[in-house]
Amino acid sequence: MAARMNTLSLLNPSHVSLRPRDSRFSHRPLRFYSSPNPNRRALFCTCSTTNGESFVLTTPLYYVNAPPHMGSAYTTIAADAVARFQRLLGKKVIFITGTDEHGEKIAAAAMAQGSTPLDHCNVISQAYKTLWKDLDISYDKFIRTTDSKHEAIVKEFYSRVLAKGDIYQADYEGLYCVNCEEYKDEKELLENNCCPVHLKPCDSRKEENYFFALSKYQKSLEEALNKNPNFVQPSFRLNEVQSWVKGGLRDFSISRASVDWGIPIPNDRSQTIYVWFDALLGYISALSDEQEQPDLLNAVSSGWPAALHLIGKDILRFHAVYWPAMLMSAGLSLPKMVFGHGFLTKDGMKMGKSLGNTLEPNELVHRFGTDAVRYFFLREVEFGSDGDYSEERFINIVNAHLANTIGNLLNRTLGLLKKNCQSTLVVDSTTAAEGNEFKDNVEKLVDKARMHYENLSLSSACEAVLEIGNVGNFYMDERAPWSLFKQGGTASEAAAKDLVIILETARIIAIALLPVTPSLSWRIYEQLGYSRDQFDAATWVSFFFHTDASTTHHQHLMGDTKWGGLKGGQVMAQPKPVFARIENQTEDVDKGVAVGKTMKSKGKKMKQAQQVAGA
Ligand code: MSP
Repeated sequence: MAARMNTLSLLNPSHVSLRPRDSRFSHRPLRFYSSPNPNRRALFCTCSTTNGESFVLTTPLYYVNAPPHMGSAYTTIAADAVARFQRLLGKKVIFITGTDEHGEKIAAAAMAQGSTPLDHCNVISQAYKTLWKDLDISYDKFIRTTDSKHEAIVKEFYSRVLAKGDIYQADYEGLYCVNCEEYKDEKELLENNCCPVHLKPCDSRKEENYFFALSKYQKSLEEALNKNPNFVQPSFRLNEVQSWVKGGLRDFSISRASVDWGIPIPNDRSQTIYVWFDALLGYISALSDEQEQPDLLNAVSSGWPAALHLIGKDILRFHAVYWPAMLMSAGLSLPKMVFGHGFLTKDGMKMGKSLGNTLEPNELVHRFGTDAVRYFFLREVEFGSDGDYSEERFINIVNAHLANTIGNLLNRTLGLLKKNCQSTLVVDSTTAAEGNEFKDNVEKLVDKARMHYENLSLSSACEAVLEIGNVGNFYMDERAPWSLFKQGGTASEAAAKDLVIILETARIIAIALLPVTPSLSWRIYEQLGYSRDQFDAATWVSFFFHTDASTTHHQHLMGDTKWGGLKGGQVMAQPKPVFARIENQTEDVDKGVAVGKTMKSKGKKMKQAQQVAGA
């Protein structure tokens, strides 16, 4: 019933704003048209997307022990692609990221820098924000766990769980990995009690702590996982989570007596709240409004539960076991999905701050440009699996896909249009493609890309969009409009239509790849003669239909991935490359992972490439 009412309210245009409030962050306007073909069935329904329900999406809150590296940037790039895609579908997205600033590891990092913990956190947190700007990350909320509103919400949450009878005091003795900020089971450790992730020996610790009664939630968790097997994605990670739960859940310590840098336990200032119990709540405190008195229920009412937590596989237990149990204890809803992606690796080892084998995202962006970095990691690494970085492969892929298949197709078509048609389209793209099955092929690939984006198969989504570029190039080469123009008469008219067809294809590619390459997509749109406002208002085509007791309402939400956007008479911009090839510097290209040192030596040459690409 609720869904029906939402659908009906959606039919009333007065409920729909036709202009985005903020071009980058607000949800996109939807345009309403009667469906030309009422029998055309929806592949998915956007009914629930415009009813005011938010699509809350999170990245992990990053530790600020050191500046961001490519591993941390990877989750955020993927999250940004998902957020942008969901906005294209018309959803009101709240994209949350931030920094995890408490705990022993951060205090130690600050001390090593000769800094106070807060000064240190301010610097590193800012480094994350700067990188997100450079990577075109369109987050809506950036939460720092040192924010006072966060602290208030953590304390309130703690008190709720305490009131539920789920917190008690006990002695604990165990092996602790400071880098993981986690007590470890002896059986999961390597020789000399080394942590398998950080390869450093764990410390033996004994303390009186406050404990969370995780074991109480064993049954409820099992049930929740059985009831909603999609809760953990990709599906192969669900088995891992189920086996942890089946293996028996043990209560865990949620306070530290030896750590000052943290949120004090309410009513016991001698202990601070365990950094994970604190940080997970950032997903909720981020939702709380700046003006409001921070309060758990207010925050929850602003979008909780999250639709999706994107995380790396190393922190799955915290998100798929501890966090749901904490939420159950506090009487709050569980997030709808936790997706654990794989690692970017070097020599098979997780790239990370603690191991010191990182790849510098700033340098990559500086040298290759934002779109190249975003595209490469999303296209090359199957989302969910591990992936190794190779500079040679980076250059080859980016050149082949972005510079050649997409950039060059647009550039040569615009060149021909300038020479033969004064840069003006002769007919609407719909007329140009009448009776031409090429248009259907493009639309099929668009649907394929959408399905992959929806399933978080980001690499396959890129592949489907690239395939549109491939069919466009094939069409161009087969039709050879340059020689048709030479023949004149009807051949020349046909060639002018072919150019419209190719440019419409490029336009669709721009929107379909926008979640991954927002800057490149804008440069393409600009070349096609659109304004920034038009680009910012773009949506992904979708259909829905709704039947109530007496009538069937067929609605067709027109979007910009649908064929027919370019109109006759539209004037294109002067052709200039939208993506410059990166020159391959084979003599000093590292065939494996390019670590910071290798990359520094090539900084200057690559900066040139980035500037051209950004032109
Ligand atoms: N602070 C915790 C998260 C708290 S969320 C409430 C944390 N921070 S982290 O900075 O160590 O890691 C953040 C994310 O970056 C994790 O999802 C982790 O998997 C991811 N990555 C860190 N190194 C990575 C790679 N080398 N490759 C891919 N992702 C990696 O954990």
